[in-house]
Amino acid sequence: MKKKKIVVLTGAGVSAESGIKTFRDSNGLWENYPVEDVASIEGWYRDRALVLAFYNARRREVAATQPNAAHLAIASLEKDYDVTVVTQNIDNLHERAGSSDIIHLHGEITKVRPENCYNERDGFSVKHVKDIGYRDINIGDLSDDGVQLRPHIVWFGEPVPNIEKAAEEVEKADCMLIVGTSMQVYPAAGLYLYAGSSTSIYIIDPKDVPLRDSRICHIKDVATHGMERFIEIIKKEL
Ligand code: OAD
Repeated sequence: MKKKKIVVLTGAGVSAESGIKTFRDSNGLWENYPVEDVASIEGWYRDRALVLAFYNARRREVAATQPNAAHLAIASLEKDYDVTVVTQNIDNLHERAGSSDIIHLHGEITKVRPENCYNERDGFSVKHVKDIGYRDINIGDLSDDGVQLRPHIVWFGEPVPNIEKAAEEVEKADCMLIVGTSMQVYPAAGLYLYAGSSTSIYIIDPKDVPLRDSRICHIKDVATHGMERFIEIIKKEL
C-alpha cells in the first residue's frame, strides 16, 4: 500500500534543544548581530570579513552539536510514511539524524559557492556549489575560476530557488507538520497555503501561533516533547 505523505517544515526551534540559537527569541542571533549586516547581499559586499566570521562561527557551532530527539523522531517517521523535510535551517542535523529527503530553503552551512553565483533560479547552478565540511572560509579563498567564495546561504534580498519544489511537495501532503518556526520569513511562511483543504496541519512550538486556519492544530510544546505527542496523534490519524 502506498504510504501517506507527511511534509515537515522546520525552523530554528527544531535545533534549539541541540544548543543552536534561534533568531528571534530573546537573546536570539538577531538580537546580537544586525541582520542587515550579516544576512543580506548588501552586507556581504559592504564587509565580507564580518559576514565570513559570522558564518564561520555558525559552522563551528554546528560541528560541535548533535541531532536531538526531535530530529531523530522526524527521521523515524520514514518507517511508516513518505516524508519530505523542508527546512529553513542551514545546519545539517536532519541529515545526521537520518532523514533522507530534505529540501534546504535557506542554504547549507557546510557548502560554498562563488560570490558571483547568487541569483539563478536553477538551484545556484549546482555545479558551482562545493562541500567544505566544517572548515572556515576566509578572504582570499577562491573558486577554480578565481572568484571569492561565499557561504551557500540564501540572504535577505535573494531569491529562494527551492521554494517551488517545496510547494509541490506540500501540495501532495496528507499531513503537514511545522516545527519551531516563527513563520515570519516569506516565502517559507506561506508554504502551508499550498496544502489541500483536507490536509491536516500540526504546529509544534512553545509559543502562540500567529496563524488563523481551521486546519491547524497547535501542539504547544518544545520540539522533542511535541514530536512524541505528534507521533501518538498521527498513528491514529494516518
Ligand atoms: P525564529 O527564531 O524566527 O523562530 C524560532 C521559533 O522556534 C519560535 O517560534 C520559537 O518559539 C520556537 N522555539 C524556540 N525554542 C523551541 C523549541 N525548543 N522547540 C520548538 N520550537 C522552539 O526562527 P525561524 O522561524 O527558523 O533565515 O527563522 C526563519 C528564518 O529567519 C531563518 O531561516 C533565518 C532567519 O533570518 C535566514 O537567515 C535567511
